[in-house]
Amino acid sequence: MTDILSHTEAGVLTLTLNRVSKKNSLTFAMYAALADALEQAGGDKAVRAVVIQGHETIFSAGNDIADFLNGPAATMDSPVFRFLRAISTFAKPIVASVCGPAVGIGTTLLLHCDLVYAGDNAAFSLPFVNLGVCPEAGSSLLVPQLMGYPRAAEVLLLGEPFMAETALEIGMINRIVPPAEANALAQRQALKLAAKPMTSLLETKRLMKKAQATAVAERIAEEAPIFGRMMVEPAAQEAFNAFMAKRKPDFSKF
Ligand code: COA
Repeated sequence: MTDILSHTEAGVLTLTLNRVSKKNSLTFAMYAALADALEQAGGDKAVRAVVIQGHETIFSAGNDIADFLNGPAATMDSPVFRFLRAISTFAKPIVASVCGPAVGIGTTLLLHCDLVYAGDNAAFSLPFVNLGVCPEAGSSLLVPQLMGYPRAAEVLLLGEPFMAETALEIGMINRIVPPAEANALAQRQALKLAAKPMTSLLETKRLMKKAQATAVAERIAEEAPIFGRMMVEPAAQEAFNAFMAKRKPDFSKF
């Protein structure tokens, strides 16, 4: 699967989103490859930390909208939710490098990473309402917690993007660097993690996440069937068809 490049070296598994011609939008096959890689890495002693990265011009345009139109409904067994379960419960540290647009799941997956380094061109957006669907990945819980309700309403109800400076200010990312340096920084930080005692990393991550773990899992499971129902309803179908036809959606009837 060349849309997801996978490489393990010195204890670090690097997963690269590699579908730049389609802005690294994620197909069902890509979710399945990411889920497989994380599930396997969880039990692989050779992997001590994971890096998720994109290209210096684009992290991810979110779910592939053609797949939204043509694919089966999103259920908890579908590749997207298998990936969400894998990343949100992954015991080892995950470092992300984000440059350019990070749309939808391109932003929400970051909420489950431990360290996030962003290029100064990073632009985060959660346009679920604009697409006639609802938040996923536990973002309906985590985003208001992270940025407070008023700002969360701007990004989740209005779908307004926010830039790297805001993401840094609210504590969603760790550092802003020139885009050409982000992947290398993520790699260096992951190598530092990989050199530390594994049990200490695992216990520390588990303890830090413990207070939220059940709530996050429950929220992901609550969002999933709502998202699955909404994506086949008329408002979402209008949004997806409008995107594919490169026109503005008309929600006046919904
Ligand atoms: N699904 C499927 N194809 C996508 C896509 C997506 N989420 N995002 C981009 N693409 C495709 C475009 O259709 C276009 O294909 P084409 O060259 O065959 O026409 C190609 O990728 C380039 O995209 P384009 O929109 O021309 O690039 P841009 O630089 O002008 O804009 C984005 C980049 C990311 C801002 C824009 O593509 C975008 O908003 N994408 C949709 C994001 C979205 O709503 N995702 C769903 C979130 S749940």
